Amino acid sequence: MTPQWPSWPPPPTDEQRRALLRVLDSGRWGATSGTATEEFAAAFARRAGAAHGVCTVNGTVALFLALRALGVGPGDEVIVPAYTFVASATAVVLAGAVPVAADVTKETLHLDPVAVRALIGPRTKAVMAVHLAGAPADTEALRALGLPVVEDAAQAHGAARHGRPAGSLGDVACFSFQSGKAMTAGEGGIVVTGDRALYERVWALHNVGRRPQGGWYDHPEMGWNLRMTEFQAALLHPQLTLLDGWIDRRTRGAAALAEALGDVPGLDLVPVLSGTTRHTWHLAMLRYDSGAFGGRPKAEFLAAMAAEGVPLDAGYRSLSRLPYVTSPAPCPVAEAAEDSVVWVRQSMLMAEGAAVAYVARASRVVRRRFRR
Ligand SMILES: Cc1ncc(COP(=O)(O)O)c(C=O)c1O
Repeated sequence: MTPQWPSWPPPPTDEQRRALLRVLDSGRWGATSGTATEEFAAAFARRAGAAHGVCTVNGTVALFLALRALGVGPGDEVIVPAYTFVASATAVVLAGAVPVAADVTKETLHLDPVAVRALIGPRTKAVMAVHLAGAPADTEALRALGLPVVEDAAQAHGAARHGRPAGSLGDVACFSFQSGKAMTAGEGGIVVTGDRALYERVWALHNVGRRPQGGWYDHPEMGWNLRMTEFQAALLHPQLTLLDGWIDRRTRGAAALAEALGDVPGLDLVPVLSGTTRHTWHLAMLRYDSGAFGGRPKAEFLAAMAAEGVPLDAGYRSLSRLPYVTSPAPCPVAEAAEDSVVWVRQSMLMAEGAAVAYVARASRVVRRRFRR
C-alpha cells in the first residue's frame, strides 16, 4: 500500500498554541513592543553556537543583511555555489553586488573550494557557504581562502561540522523559517554571529537604522523595516525543543532509505561530505543513473515514481544558467546534476522506516518497467 507521507509542518503543539495566544492577548504583536522575538533570537543563537541573533522577515533578507553588514555593495562580487537555491544568489543582487557561480564537487555537490579559489579576484568580497541539504559546507577550506564566509544555513538548523554547530562555522550565518524548512513559522529568518560589531550593524540595518538605545526617530544609519513579528517567534521558540527529535527521525529515515536502496542499481544516496558530524537530512539527494533505468530520462523517472505514490523532487537548475549570475568558468557538475540528481524531501524522511523503504520498492518497480 502507498504510504501516507507525513505533513510538514507537523500539527501545532499545545505549547505553540499557548505562546501564540499569549502574544495575541498581549496586544504587543511587533518585535519593537514585545519580547518574544528577542528571546527567541537569543535562544536560537545560543543553540547555533553564536553570541548574537537578529530575527528577520525571511532567509533571503537575512542573507542580504549579513552581506550588507560585511560591507558588500555595488562593485563587489560574492562567490556562491552553482548548485543551491536561487536566493543564495539573489540576496547578493539585493545587496547591490554580483553573484559569481562556482561549481560544486562531483562527489557531494557542495561548493568546491578549488573552484572558488580560481574565481577570486580584486572585487571578491565574500564567499557564500551553503549548507546544502542539511550538511555543512567545507567551511575550513573556504575560510582558508582568506575571505569573509557567510553561512547560508537555510537548510541546516541543528547541523554540525567537526562537532561545531552550523551558525558558528563562518563569520556570520543565516537561517530560514519558510514553510518547508526544518523549523518554520510559515516565513521568517535569522542572522547569527559571534561578532558584536557585525551584530550591531545587522540590528541597525533591519530596524530602519536605529540604535538599540536610540530614539524612535533617530536613524543614524540607513536601514529598513525587516523585522520578524512576535507571532512568528511564538511559533518558533517551542520548536527548539522539538528540533533534535525531528532530526533523529529523519536520520533514521535516511538510514532506512540507504539500506533499502542497496539493491536498486542506478539509484544511490549522494555521499555525505566528510567532517559532517550532524546531518539534519533536510533532503536526501539521490543520484539517478538513467543507464541503469533503460536510458529513460530523469523527468520520466520522476513521473513514474509520482504515479507509484512517491513524489520526489527534481532539485535545482544550475545557477550558472541564470542571466543575473556571472559564471566566468563552466559549472559542469552543477549542470549535470540537473539530469541526474533527485531529492527525497524531509517530510518523507520523517516517515517510519518501512514507509521510507517504499521509495526503494517503488523505484525497483519503475526500473523493471523501464528495462522491459
Ligand atoms: C539554501 C537556501 N538559501 C536561502 C533560502 C531563502 O530563504 P527564504 O525562503 O526564507 O527567503 C532558502 C530557502 O528558501 C534556501 O534553501
